[in-house]
Amino acid sequence: MSRIAVIAGDGVGREVVPAAVRAARAAAGERLEWTEFDWNADYFLRHGAAMPPDGLEQLRRFDAILFGAVGDPRIGTHEYAAGLLLKMRFGLDLYANLRPVRPLDDRLCPLRGIRGDEIDFVVLRENTEGAYAGIGGNFKSGRSEEVAIELDLNTRLGVERIQRLAFETARQRPRRRLVMADKSNAMPHAHGLWLRVFRELRPQYPEVEAGHLYADALAYQMVRDPRQFDVIVTSNLFGDLLTDLAAALQGGLGMAASANLHPGRLGLFEPVHGSAPDIAGRNRANPLGAILSAALMLDFLGLGEAARQIEAAAAAAVREGVTTPDLGGNWGTMECAAWIEKRLRA
Ligand code: NAD
Ligand code: IPM
Ligand code: MN
Repeated sequence: MSRIAVIAGDGVGREVVPAAVRAARAAAGERLEWTEFDWNADYFLRHGAAMPPDGLEQLRRFDAILFGAVGDPRIGTHEYAAGLLLKMRFGLDLYANLRPVRPLDDRLCPLRGIRGDEIDFVVLRENTEGAYAGIGGNFKSGRSEEVAIELDLNTRLGVERIQRLAFETARQRPRRRLVMADKSNAMPHAHGLWLRVFRELRPQYPEVEAGHLYADALAYQMVRDPRQFDVIVTSNLFGDLLTDLAAALQGGLGMAASANLHPGRLGLFEPVHGSAPDIAGRNRANPLGAILSAALMLDFLGLGEAARQIEAAAAAAVREGVTTPDLGGNWGTMECAAWIEKRLRA
């Protein structure tokens, strides 16, 4: 029995997470036990914090967390995301944000002449430091001479463990290819460390064909011909940007799934997209990114067969036109989820 903490969060998170729970229940039945947490914008507005002081201790008792999205137009402060999603990533030390890029259906890839099934790569985004460290400040605020500093914090431990995991990941995939992307040409101190670590690790993995690209060139190559990629490893901020771009290769943000991992510890699974206030509450959100994130979670929990069933049901939904408006269909979130659940139970 695996214990799962469910945090739907805000906006469309509250629509797509129930869809993902339904799919996981249908595929894995009684092997999962669910506990819901109401840590969201309402909670933050009521309590002045996004979770109770012992929130992370509560979460540590679970095997996995299924998360929706954080973000609410009523809250303008960074404190909220920092106190919920980033707090879980940093506080649980989930240093690897794994974002697979594999279009479920050929039709989902928008690039001319490239079929969806020719694209199959994963991005490993550093998830606990970099530009997200929150270290900085403002001086002479509001004045014309105002100074704003946001530090890009990179530690050897942080850079090395994510790159090592990327080499290990590449070694286990059939193509055994790795690209490390940085901006060491413009950020010689922080990303110079990324490049030095990469050059130190590369000889330890002779079976991996490992190369380096500047992150701007990688963005270009990802659109020009994404078939060349197998494993990509990059920093926190670049990984954030590149995986929204990569989501477009899979049919859009509504399709992209992710896992926040620290091998040997509990994992946090969430769609790549945010709370999508522009469509929230209207039964229009695509639930597949969340459902595929639940499949990643089942894989992580050792329920690979159930995960494959979910992926197959999601692919069937796309193939048979059971899709939300972002994919050109006219199905609602709930109806799409119900269709997938029925297929899984058949
Ligand atoms: P977003 O990902 O919420 O939305 C970007 C665009 O994608 C919107 O047009 C939206 O309608 C569309 N979209 C997103 N999810 C979709 C889905 N499931 N189905 C169909 N269309 C979908 O990004 P944003 O608008 O920049 O951010 C909104 C809020 O969410 C902000 O507060 C932001 O900080 C937050 N955010 C949170 C996460 C997260 O929790 N992991 C990720 C990104 C953004
Ligand atoms: C994501 C989101 C978050 C990030 C935001 C909400 C802080 O965009 O999960 O990709 O930047 O990591
Ligand atoms: Mn993002």
